[in-house]
Amino acid sequence: MSANTQGLGAIAKALVANGKGILAADETVGTLTGRFEKLKIPSTRETRRDYREMLFAAPGSAEFISGVILYDETIRQRGSNGAPLPDILLKRQIIPGIKVDTGAKPLAGSEGETVTEGLDGLRDRLKDYHAMGARFAKWRAVIRITDRLPSAMGISVNAHALGRYAALCQEQGIVPIVEPEVLMEGNHTIDKCGEVTGQVLQAVFNALHEQKVLLEGMLLKPNMIVPGTACVKQNSVTEVAEATLRCLLRQVPPAVPGIVFLSGGQTDVLATIHLNEINARTAGTPWKISFSYGRALQDISLATWLGDKNKAKAAQQAYFHRAKCNAAASGGKYTKAMEQEFTGKIPREHHWGFQDD
Ligand code: 13P
Repeated sequence: MSANTQGLGAIAKALVANGKGILAADETVGTLTGRFEKLKIPSTRETRRDYREMLFAAPGSAEFISGVILYDETIRQRGSNGAPLPDILLKRQIIPGIKVDTGAKPLAGSEGETVTEGLDGLRDRLKDYHAMGARFAKWRAVIRITDRLPSAMGISVNAHALGRYAALCQEQGIVPIVEPEVLMEGNHTIDKCGEVTGQVLQAVFNALHEQKVLLEGMLLKPNMIVPGTACVKQNSVTEVAEATLRCLLRQVPPAVPGIVFLSGGQTDVLATIHLNEINARTAGTPWKISFSYGRALQDISLATWLGDKNKAKAAQQAYFHRAKCNAAASGGKYTKAMEQEFTGKIPREHHWGFQDD
């Protein structure tokens, strides 16, 4: 392996080091503004910066968080002490990453499908982000299940774009996180989710092979295999864990060092429970399995913070707790008692996620 490919492998492995996972804090301005507005928090460059700085600096979180995915606005911002925000992470030995796609846009020739854009000028943007400290990147393809979707074309164009993105990242010394997300919205069954996710992963790995992407120097960020949110049958945690592992074992080559799930709209506690159940069954699986959660790590922290600097400490504790629980789940060592440890440290009304099993 060349020095470059060895470097990519080392970064990928560090991102899935034992007991660690990734914080996805790369919401676009529009998405984060939507989340702020639901809680009546004004969304300005400064409030978005303060919120993210609060998360990045959360005491103790570096024990459980290996990397943070940033958005373009954030990677260029400076924290309250004047230092660039990526430096706050680097000082704590957390690897900065960057979202480089420019969003899922309507796919010409198909009704109801999208293709993720952002390839134009990507090589130069990757060079700039590398100079700002980014060592890994993310590109999210979005696949929707309906009675007639996804189409073969929808899967194929999104897989091809993921391959183009991943190859460009590796050329620039950046580890690509390859994220083909099959959405939870819909009334489809868990079997349908497994079938579609399998097809998508097969197309994605074909594209990665075709475009000479080094599997040892990337991470996969898939959805778990779950029924649609409107499906009448909601499956047990055991069924979800078994279906997820079955799908991944069929489709993901052993050379890939790690699989880091997205939470996709699951409640925070359920995302932790599922990750734990999957890891409780991984004896003999070739890859590390961890998390790259956005909402499931942040929701409770944001609802605690509410834009008030007097609540920043409590919000950091809420984030720390979710990071700790998910880190335990990445080793199959999460327990309900860990959840209860934290009850009472933040206002009760924010405990919307707790489920009995
Ligand atoms: P969620 O965990 O909120 O799905 O976000 C992860 C992510 O990065 C989606 O692209």
